[in-house]
Amino acid sequence: MIVGNREGKILFGGDYNPEQWGEDVWEEDMRLFRMAHIDVVTLNVFSWAALQPKEDTYDFAKLDRIMDLVEANGLKVCMATSTAAHPAWMARKYPDVLRTEHNGMRRKFGSRHNSCPNSPTYRKYAVRLAERLAERYRDRKSIVAWHVANEYGGECYCENCEKAFRKWLKEKYGTPEELNRVWDTAFWGHTFYDWEEVVVPNLQSEEFYWEGSIRTNFQGISLDYRRFNSDSMLACYQLEQEALKKHTPQIPVTTNLMGFYKPLDYQKWARSMDFVSWDNYPAYGAVPEQAAMAHDLMRGLKQGMPFALMEQTPSVSNWHVYCALKRPGVMRLWSYQAVAHGSDTVMFFQMRRSIGACEKYHGALVDHAGHENTRVFREMTALGAELEKLEGVLLGGRTDAKAAIVVDWDNWWAAEYSAGPSRLICYAEEILTYYKAFYRRNIPVDLVSVEDDLSGYRLVAAPMLYMCKDGFDEKLRQFVAAGGHFLTTYFSGYVEDHDLVVTGGYPGRLKDILGIWVEESDALPEGNGNWFVYGGKKYPATVMCDLLHTQGAETLAVYGEDFYAGMPVLTVNGFGKGKAYYVATRSDADFYKEFLGKVCDDAGICPLLETPEGMEAAVRENENGRFLFLLNHGEDTGEALLPQAGEELLTGIKYGAGEKIVLEKKDVAILRMEDR
Ligand code: GLA
Ligand code: ZN
Repeated sequence: MIVGNREGKILFGGDYNPEQWGEDVWEEDMRLFRMAHIDVVTLNVFSWAALQPKEDTYDFAKLDRIMDLVEANGLKVCMATSTAAHPAWMARKYPDVLRTEHNGMRRKFGSRHNSCPNSPTYRKYAVRLAERLAERYRDRKSIVAWHVANEYGGECYCENCEKAFRKWLKEKYGTPEELNRVWDTAFWGHTFYDWEEVVVPNLQSEEFYWEGSIRTNFQGISLDYRRFNSDSMLACYQLEQEALKKHTPQIPVTTNLMGFYKPLDYQKWARSMDFVSWDNYPAYGAVPEQAAMAHDLMRGLKQGMPFALMEQTPSVSNWHVYCALKRPGVMRLWSYQAVAHGSDTVMFFQMRRSIGACEKYHGALVDHAGHENTRVFREMTALGAELEKLEGVLLGGRTDAKAAIVVDWDNWWAAEYSAGPSRLICYAEEILTYYKAFYRRNIPVDLVSVEDDLSGYRLVAAPMLYMCKDGFDEKLRQFVAAGGHFLTTYFSGYVEDHDLVVTGGYPGRLKDILGIWVEESDALPEGNGNWFVYGGKKYPATVMCDLLHTQGAETLAVYGEDFYAGMPVLTVNGFGKGKAYYVATRSDADFYKEFLGKVCDDAGICPLLETPEGMEAAVRENENGRFLFLLNHGEDTGEALLPQAGEELLTGIKYGAGEKIVLEKKDVAILRMEDR
């Protein structure tokens, strides 16, 4: 297994494409890899055209030689199945493999991640290739994981998909009557009499552009299409996985995910995956909390099981608007950030920079200069050596978080398809807002799904839970009744699973837990705001202001102006042995830090320690101990007082309880704490 091991080391390496080079370069690559302490390579990500040059010809000769080479050099292999880009002959002979875009345009051959997930041809040949690979390389001990396709994503609106969508709907809803009910087709007389009348929702039918984003006339239809598209790609993954398992049941299978990637319901996907792996490419200008949050999301997909950092760039991402360099120390810092949040690998795209096409200026271990005398190579080599020193220490470590944030893909889709109340509705941003409050207090948090067991948490926050799915309210009811602290916000509890409004006042099924009901909501245009006073300080109220009535809840703050001045904006309700908080608006970072700090105190959740702004703290624990990670993202030297005695693993320095630790900018400390 590549993750969750007790022994071994954090694997260090990544995407390697020797097929783009003459064989004379390969030996030199091996020398450079040895120098840089590389011990794993991801092979064969985009080789379908080479492996199957004709419909009934397979040719593994080159891959055999690559495998011999990397094995002779002691490298482990993450073996991809190559099915993320189909060969040109296939597109020509079987146009059903080509995708159709949202505007109805049928694509020609080109690009990658380009196959229709419901194309019978694509599925047949993808599965066949996966199976051939598994058969051929089944005895190669170097293979530590199968990497199916690559970054599944996008969508298709072709006729195959339309047919498959009808089938999917029929299986889900049984009769057109039920379909009409859940989509509320009585609106605008869209009644369907026959499954064949259903068409895909795109620009040719229900969807349209509105102020730069896509809108739909029928949320129910569009929402189901999101689910269907995610399921269709998942089925492709599952089919390949099955084929691989036939020959190599012992080799774990994964595909590389992309963090907060809206089109695919990763919580559903992860149930089929042996382990989660993902590619961390923070957007240009992103703050470190965004990567931290994405790591936590990935860790949560399999209930805290360690994951693999499959890709990150050693230096630049060529596709950013400005391809800024990772500053000295940042590659190492972000690598440890991944480890701190649950990764058991540190892997990269890519090992050697290509000379042609769109990624030739993407970062790599070996640059176009072609030798080891580069800053990036030196930084990678130093990190590789450091990870060797950590052999057998951190692997398999878990994070015992007492706070959780609920993330739900159906909710994400539904909330953002909603026509109104505001174009400022942004689910991921709302989640990030709350995440930051925990992060800045150094309180570990899990990102959980509505299916997960909540009983181990003291606080569960479900910001913007617009769709409260069937049964989730009951789970929350029990959680709070048993003594849990629950928190939710404006734009929550509006709809059930099909995006049909739960009548009787918002937030629908959550009203009794929160002890409130919301009568109206005022969407404030950008730049406008109301305000409230909490804990003696004035904070802004923006985006949406709920006009709510308490029904048992206590009011903690009220609006300061407008016709709803004096109405509650922040409430808490005692429910059973627990408490339920409602935040009726969007405020600022200071408010969330303050307020969540109070809620955490009340719930008995303690910060790991106090750190200066920019210094992140995270924790992992395994049989070898409890490890406190300190990551200085700031531009200045920072210091913190350690809550307990511990030994810093990278320097060997021992610290006493209450002693000060000093971290240079971009530096990292990993402390094995004396007490658990
Ligand atoms: C993705 C892909 C890689 C490569 C990198 C470049 O993560 O999986 O093949 O394109 O992006 O950043
Ligand atoms: Zn299609």
